[in-house]
Amino acid sequence: MPGAIYAEGLVKTFGDVRALDGVDLDVPEGTVLGLLGPNGAGKTTTVRCLTTLLRPDRGKAVVAGVDVLKHPDTVRRSIGLSGQFAAVDEYLTGRENLQMVGQLYQMKAKAAKQRAADLLEQFNLADAADRPAKTYSGGMRRRLDLAAALVVSPPVMFMDEPTTGLDPRNRQQLWEVIKQLVSGGTTLLLTTQYLEEADHLAHDIAVVDHGRVIAKGTSDQLKARTGGERVEVVVHERAHIADAAEVLRGFGKGETTVEEHTRKLTVPVTGGAKLLAEVIRELDTRGIEMDDIGLRRPTLDDVFLSLTGHMAEAADQDEANGKEAVK
Ligand SMILES: Nc1ncnc2c1ncn2[C@@H]1O[C@H](COP(=O)(O)OP(=O)(O)OP(=O)(O)O)[C@@H](O)[C@H]1O
Ligand SMILES: [Mg+2]
Repeated sequence: MPGAIYAEGLVKTFGDVRALDGVDLDVPEGTVLGLLGPNGAGKTTTVRCLTTLLRPDRGKAVVAGVDVLKHPDTVRRSIGLSGQFAAVDEYLTGRENLQMVGQLYQMKAKAAKQRAADLLEQFNLADAADRPAKTYSGGMRRRLDLAAALVVSPPVMFMDEPTTGLDPRNRQQLWEVIKQLVSGGTTLLLTTQYLEEADHLAHDIAVVDHGRVIAKGTSDQLKARTGGERVEVVVHERAHIADAAEVLRGFGKGETTVEEHTRKLTVPVTGGAKLLAEVIRELDTRGIEMDDIGLRRPTLDDVFLSLTGHMAEAADQDEANGKEAVK
């Protein structure tokens, strides 16, 4: 049975640009899929197709058991989308904005009021609750948008870069909110430029590039694919780099790389902590002083880089603040 979010062969072109070139996705109910990809990969376009905002040229999409192309209105009733349906009204206060969303969804006035108060608290907006939204900072607006998407906890949620432009504390808090949401059974598709976020929240990760899913799996599976562990050493003196490189070559399972200016040497290894101890002993025996040494596993950044050839980059603060969650 297809999952709560299912896509098969989604194609979307804008003039000459093939934004989606056959996207396949399957997100089991109650799980989080992290959609990762460089700028222009097709993440937002995928979200827009799945949330009925854009009609794909080809392909199939089923959300919450409903065919997105055949019954868009029904789909709209079972999904939440951060920053889109919850368009913030500048002239209303934060509290009024949230109460209005509740009423749009036919909540009773009292329940809508309570829900708004809870969300304002949860998103650190209680102090600013009774000020018009036009006086809010970029990060506050972003939080109000997200809060509005959560007024009626829908079974399937889409969040396009939910934490771009949030400071670390607000990001952490949003992560907690997301975890609670998912533990309550919500299925979530989230796009992010922060690999740490995907690592932290997503059960599965799909890496998108040039409109296609080029890799899929858990964070650990993707890391294992990228290659195993490596030893990193920072030697104390530049004069010891050549000696240290010789030692590492003796233990390595691949090429030793050297960064002269940071005095850092890296070599792929197998053998874990036991091997690390041997490397340390050998360096010590040769009188090579170390500032740092450790066994490193690949990060999701390494995975991303090796798969797409680009570094993940977070949109800068100014752009993020001015940007709608769904373009
Ligand atoms: N309405 C549009 N008209 C023309 N081209 C578009 C339109 N929407 C998207 N595109 C193009 O489709 C491609 C995919 O864009 P999309 O916004 O889906 O990327 P993204 O992965 O969300 O990127 P980002 O990380 O920058 O948000 C890009 O080349 C973009 O320029
Ligand atoms: Mg985007």
